[in-house]
Amino acid sequence: MSNHLKDLKLKIWRQSGPAAKGHFEEYVMPEISDEASFLEMLDVLNEGLIGENKLPVVFDHDCREGICGTCSLMINGQAHGPERSTATCQLHMRKFKSGDEIVIEPWRASAFPIIKDLMVDRSAFDRIIESGGFISANTGGAPDANLIPIPKSVADAAMDSAQCIGCGACVAACPNGAANLFTAAKIAHLNLLPQGQAERYKRTEAMVETMDEYFGSCTNHGECEAACPKEISIDVIALMNKDYRKSKLKNRKEISRN
Ligand code: FES
Repeated sequence: MSNHLKDLKLKIWRQSGPAAKGHFEEYVMPEISDEASFLEMLDVLNEGLIGENKLPVVFDHDCREGICGTCSLMINGQAHGPERSTATCQLHMRKFKSGDEIVIEPWRASAFPIIKDLMVDRSAFDRIIESGGFISANTGGAPDANLIPIPKSVADAAMDSAQCIGCGACVAACPNGAANLFTAAKIAHLNLLPQGQAERYKRTEAMVETMDEYFGSCTNHGECEAACPKEISIDVIALMNKDYRKSKLKNRKEISRN
């Protein structure tokens, strides 16, 4: 097994708190293994800093398996770094060459304020989910899967949307700081399935309007799709826009009936 070692220079954004002025600090990282993950490389850095009685670099992580969506680094100007369809925790140092300088920043978006160093507050995503990203109808016990026939193409599209891990790379990559890909993925995975129909239009209206309160507007740059570690297609945004237009009509009719 190859285990090439490389010498790297890191330029990392350090910021002591939300209101503090941030700055870049440089660190020399000798003999980093090709097989180390990007976050393991940061662990090595932090062990060294702690050993020198210095404050470690704060960064988000949890599963380190590309599942939870917690990791969130802008690496050399790219959300999650240079490997497509890969979350930061799944990025390996073999992607870099010895002598490289790697610039590491937090997500840059006004809806995601910096908490400390590389950690940002992504609770604006929670506000969108709280406004309708669930099914509240009591459906009883889990029915036999075969009782609700769902065409495979529909099930596949819903499951593709459900892959969104809510990391926020789409927002960080968007020049407008828009959250349309995230919101549309969360809407699509419920709106496409039979179980999501009862609240389809209420959900869509509420989630889109909550999104608009916190995030910028989509102007079809497509950067979100390129940055998404789960390859969510911007097609879901078209579905969301269509459902949103319908929701304005249907929800208004419902209000005037009551
Ligand atoms: S740490 Fe969970 S997806 Fe990266």
